Amino acid sequence: MRRERLIHLLIGAAIGIAVVVPLGAFAFVKSGIFNVGASHPHTKFTTWITHETMINSVRRRGGDISPPRSTSAAQIVAGFCAYDTHCAACHGAAGVSRQPWVGGMEPQPPYLLDETERFTPGQLFWIAKNGIKMTGMPSWRNSMSDREIWNIVAWLEASQSLPPQTYVRLLRDRRCSAEPNVSLELSGSMLQAR
Ligand code: HEC
Repeated sequence: MRRERLIHLLIGAAIGIAVVVPLGAFAFVKSGIFNVGASHPHTKFTTWITHETMINSVRRRGGDISPPRSTSAAQIVAGFCAYDTHCAACHGAAGVSRQPWVGGMEPQPPYLLDETERFTPGQLFWIAKNGIKMTGMPSWRNSMSDREIWNIVAWLEASQSLPPQTYVRLLRDRRCSAEPNVSLELSGSMLQAR
Protein backbone atom coordinates (compact mmCIF):
# COMPACT_ATOMS: atom_id res chain seq x y z
CA MET A 1 0.00 0.00 0.00
CA ARG A 2 2.75 2.40 1.00
CA ARG A 3 4.72 1.54 -2.11
CA GLU A 4 1.69 2.17 -4.31
CA ARG A 5 1.26 5.58 -2.75
CA LEU A 6 4.83 6.44 -3.36
CA ILE A 7 4.53 5.41 -7.00
CA HIS A 8 1.37 7.54 -7.38
CA LEU A 9 3.14 10.45 -5.76
CA LEU A 10 6.11 10.11 -8.10
CA ILE A 11 3.89 9.84 -11.19
CA GLY A 12 1.92 12.90 -10.00
CA ALA A 13 5.16 14.87 -9.49
CA ALA A 14 6.48 13.85 -12.91
CA ILE A 15 3.24 14.93 -14.63
CA GLY A 16 3.26 18.14 -12.58
CA ILE A 17 6.82 18.96 -13.63
CA ALA A 18 6.16 17.99 -17.26
CA VAL A 19 3.21 20.42 -17.34
CA VAL A 20 4.30 23.18 -14.98
CA VAL A 21 7.85 23.70 -16.31
CA PRO A 22 6.90 24.17 -20.00
CA LEU A 23 3.90 26.29 -19.00
CA GLY A 24 6.12 28.41 -16.75
CA ALA A 25 8.67 28.81 -19.55
CA PHE A 26 5.90 29.76 -21.99
CA ALA A 27 4.46 32.29 -19.53
CA PHE A 28 7.97 33.73 -18.98
CA VAL A 29 8.52 34.14 -22.73
CA LYS A 30 5.09 35.69 -23.29
CA SER A 31 5.20 37.96 -20.22
CA GLY A 32 8.05 40.18 -21.45
CA ILE A 33 9.63 40.04 -17.97
CA PHE A 34 13.08 39.32 -19.46
CA ASN A 35 14.82 42.58 -20.35
CA VAL A 36 16.34 42.17 -23.83
CA GLY A 37 17.86 45.68 -23.73
CA ALA A 38 21.60 45.57 -24.42
CA SER A 39 21.87 48.45 -21.93
CA HIS A 40 20.92 45.98 -19.20
CA PRO A 41 23.88 43.64 -18.48
CA HIS A 42 23.43 39.88 -18.24
CA THR A 43 23.28 38.42 -14.77
CA LYS A 44 26.44 36.65 -13.57
CA PHE A 45 24.70 33.33 -14.09
CA THR A 46 23.72 34.11 -17.71
CA THR A 47 27.22 35.41 -18.43
CA TRP A 48 28.74 32.24 -17.03
CA ILE A 49 26.40 29.82 -18.75
CA THR A 50 26.64 31.49 -22.19
CA HIS A 51 30.42 31.92 -22.01
CA GLU A 52 31.05 28.35 -20.88
CA THR A 53 28.73 27.07 -23.61
CA MET A 54 30.64 29.12 -26.18
CA ILE A 55 34.09 27.99 -25.02
CA ASN A 56 33.16 24.30 -25.01
CA SER A 57 31.39 24.56 -28.36
CA VAL A 58 34.47 26.20 -29.91
CA ARG A 59 36.81 23.59 -28.36
CA ARG A 60 34.71 20.78 -29.74
CA ARG A 61 34.42 22.21 -33.26
CA GLY A 62 37.74 23.97 -33.77
CA GLY A 63 40.04 21.48 -32.06
CA ASP A 64 40.83 19.39 -35.15
CA ILE A 65 41.32 22.18 -37.66
CA SER A 66 45.00 22.51 -38.56
CA PRO A 67 46.52 25.75 -39.83
CA PRO A 68 48.22 26.00 -43.23
CA ARG A 69 51.75 24.58 -43.12
CA SER A 70 53.47 27.85 -43.88
CA THR A 71 52.61 31.51 -43.70
CA SER A 72 54.71 34.21 -45.33
CA ALA A 73 55.43 37.65 -43.89
CA ALA A 74 53.23 39.09 -46.67
CA GLN A 75 50.31 36.98 -45.45
CA ILE A 76 50.84 38.14 -41.86
CA VAL A 77 50.78 41.76 -43.00
CA ALA A 78 47.65 40.99 -45.05
CA GLY A 79 46.19 39.53 -41.84
CA PHE A 80 47.00 42.74 -39.99
CA CYS A 81 45.22 44.76 -42.72
CA ALA A 82 42.16 42.50 -42.68
CA TYR A 83 42.08 42.66 -38.87
CA ASP A 84 42.26 46.43 -38.97
CA THR A 85 39.45 46.63 -41.53
CA HIS A 86 37.08 44.04 -40.08
CA CYS A 87 37.88 43.41 -36.41
CA ALA A 88 39.57 46.38 -34.75
CA ALA A 89 36.39 48.46 -34.42
CA CYS A 90 34.98 45.89 -32.01
CA HIS A 91 38.10 44.23 -30.60
CA GLY A 92 40.64 47.08 -30.60
CA ALA A 93 44.35 46.25 -30.67
CA ALA A 94 47.56 47.10 -28.79
CA GLY A 95 47.44 50.90 -28.49
CA VAL A 96 44.11 51.14 -30.36
CA SER A 97 40.78 51.52 -28.52
CA ARG A 98 37.56 49.87 -29.56
CA GLN A 99 34.90 52.14 -31.07
CA PRO A 100 32.91 53.95 -28.36
CA TRP A 101 29.63 52.27 -29.42
CA VAL A 102 31.10 48.90 -28.44
CA GLY A 103 30.38 49.96 -24.85
CA GLY A 104 26.70 49.54 -25.78
CA MET A 105 27.08 45.88 -26.70
CA GLU A 106 26.15 43.02 -24.37
CA PRO A 107 28.32 41.02 -24.15
CA GLN A 108 31.12 43.42 -25.03
CA PRO A 109 33.74 42.13 -27.46
CA PRO A 110 37.01 41.63 -25.58
CA TYR A 111 40.46 42.85 -26.65
CA LEU A 112 42.17 39.89 -28.27
CA LEU A 113 45.65 40.57 -26.89
CA ASP A 114 46.12 37.20 -25.18
CA GLU A 115 43.68 35.31 -27.35
CA THR A 116 46.27 32.85 -28.65
CA GLU A 117 46.80 31.59 -25.10
CA ARG A 118 43.11 30.82 -24.76
CA PHE A 119 42.41 29.31 -28.16
CA THR A 120 44.44 27.26 -30.65
CA PRO A 121 44.86 28.61 -34.21
CA GLY A 122 42.19 26.14 -35.39
CA GLN A 123 39.75 27.39 -32.76
CA LEU A 124 40.43 31.05 -33.63
CA PHE A 125 39.84 30.20 -37.28
CA TRP A 126 36.58 28.49 -36.39
CA ILE A 127 35.35 31.48 -34.34
CA ALA A 128 36.12 33.98 -37.10
CA LYS A 129 34.65 31.78 -39.81
CA ASN A 130 31.45 30.89 -37.96
CA GLY A 131 30.86 33.75 -35.53
CA ILE A 132 29.15 33.37 -32.14
CA LYS A 133 25.37 33.31 -31.89
CA MET A 134 23.61 35.87 -29.69
CA THR A 135 26.72 37.96 -29.04
CA GLY A 136 27.12 40.25 -32.06
CA MET A 137 30.24 38.36 -33.24
CA PRO A 138 29.59 37.91 -36.98
CA SER A 139 30.45 34.92 -39.12
CA TRP A 140 32.93 35.95 -41.80
CA ARG A 141 32.42 32.91 -43.99
CA ASN A 142 30.58 34.87 -46.71
CA SER A 143 32.87 37.88 -46.81
CA MET A 144 36.33 36.34 -46.43
CA SER A 145 38.09 33.34 -47.93
CA ASP A 146 39.58 30.69 -45.66
CA ARG A 147 43.03 32.00 -46.62
CA GLU A 148 42.10 35.53 -45.52
CA ILE A 149 40.80 34.24 -42.19
CA TRP A 150 43.99 32.21 -41.69
CA ASN A 151 45.99 35.38 -42.38
CA ILE A 152 44.17 37.11 -39.52
CA VAL A 153 44.88 34.15 -37.23
CA ALA A 154 48.54 34.29 -38.32
CA TRP A 155 48.61 38.01 -37.46
CA LEU A 156 47.12 37.33 -34.00
CA GLU A 157 49.71 34.62 -33.39
CA ALA A 158 52.65 36.64 -34.74
CA SER A 159 51.71 39.77 -32.82
CA GLN A 160 52.34 37.92 -29.56
CA SER A 161 56.06 38.06 -30.16
CA LEU A 162 56.18 41.55 -31.68
CA PRO A 163 56.65 44.76 -29.68
CA PRO A 164 53.26 46.16 -28.56
CA GLN A 165 53.76 49.33 -30.58
CA THR A 166 53.89 47.32 -33.85
CA TYR A 167 50.18 47.73 -34.57
CA VAL A 168 50.28 51.51 -34.31
CA ARG A 169 53.51 51.62 -36.28
CA LEU A 170 52.01 49.59 -39.12
CA LEU A 171 49.01 51.93 -39.15
CA ARG A 172 51.24 54.98 -39.21
CA ASP A 173 53.31 53.52 -42.04
CA ARG A 174 50.06 53.09 -44.02
CA ARG A 175 51.12 49.54 -44.65
CA CYS A 176 47.71 48.50 -45.98
CA SER A 177 47.20 51.23 -48.52
CA ALA A 178 50.73 51.04 -49.92
CA GLU A 179 52.12 48.19 -51.97
CA PRO A 180 53.10 45.66 -49.35
CA ASN A 181 56.84 45.83 -48.89
CA VAL A 182 57.46 42.91 -46.62
CA SER A 183 61.20 42.96 -46.90
CA LEU A 184 61.22 45.82 -44.37
CA GLU A 185 62.25 45.21 -40.74
CA LEU A 186 59.09 43.24 -40.08
CA SER A 187 59.82 40.12 -41.98
CA GLY A 188 62.49 38.55 -39.75
CA SER A 189 60.68 38.47 -36.44
CA MET A 190 57.28 37.81 -37.96
CA LEU A 191 58.42 34.81 -39.93
CA GLN A 192 60.00 33.33 -36.85
CA ALA A 193 56.73 33.76 -34.98
CA ARG A 194 54.91 31.27 -37.22
C1 HEC B 1 30.42 43.96 -34.37
C2 HEC B 1 31.46 43.65 -33.46
C3 HEC B 1 32.44 42.57 -33.79
C4 HEC B 1 33.25 42.46 -34.89
C5 HEC B 1 33.31 43.39 -36.08
C6 HEC B 1 34.09 41.32 -34.66
N1 HEC B 1 33.79 40.73 -33.46
FE1 HEC B 1 34.71 39.13 -32.64
N2 HEC B 1 33.42 39.18 -31.06
C7 HEC B 1 32.42 40.10 -30.88
C8 HEC B 1 31.65 39.76 -29.71
C9 HEC B 1 30.46 40.50 -29.17
C10 HEC B 1 32.24 38.59 -29.18
C11 HEC B 1 31.76 37.73 -28.03
C12 HEC B 1 32.36 37.97 -26.72
C13 HEC B 1 31.87 36.97 -25.68
O1 HEC B 1 31.56 35.83 -26.01
O2 HEC B 1 31.80 37.37 -24.53
C14 HEC B 1 33.37 38.27 -30.04
C15 HEC B 1 34.23 37.21 -29.83
C16 HEC B 1 35.35 36.96 -30.57
C17 HEC B 1 36.37 35.98 -30.22
C18 HEC B 1 36.36 35.13 -28.95
C19 HEC B 1 36.83 36.01 -27.80
C20 HEC B 1 36.74 35.40 -26.42
O3 HEC B 1 37.78 35.15 -25.80
O4 HEC B 1 35.62 35.21 -25.93
C21 HEC B 1 37.32 36.02 -31.20
C22 HEC B 1 38.59 35.20 -31.28
C23 HEC B 1 36.88 37.01 -32.18
N3 HEC B 1 35.69 37.55 -31.75
C24 HEC B 1 37.56 37.32 -33.33
C25 HEC B 1 37.14 38.28 -34.26
C26 HEC B 1 37.81 38.53 -35.51
C27 HEC B 1 39.07 37.81 -35.98
C28 HEC B 1 37.09 39.52 -36.13
C29 HEC B 1 37.35 40.11 -37.48
C30 HEC B 1 37.41 39.22 -38.61
C31 HEC B 1 35.99 39.88 -35.27
N4 HEC B 1 36.05 39.11 -34.14
C32 HEC B 1 35.07 40.87 -35.54
C33 HEC B 1 32.16 41.19 -31.70
C34 HEC B 1 32.78 41.47 -32.90
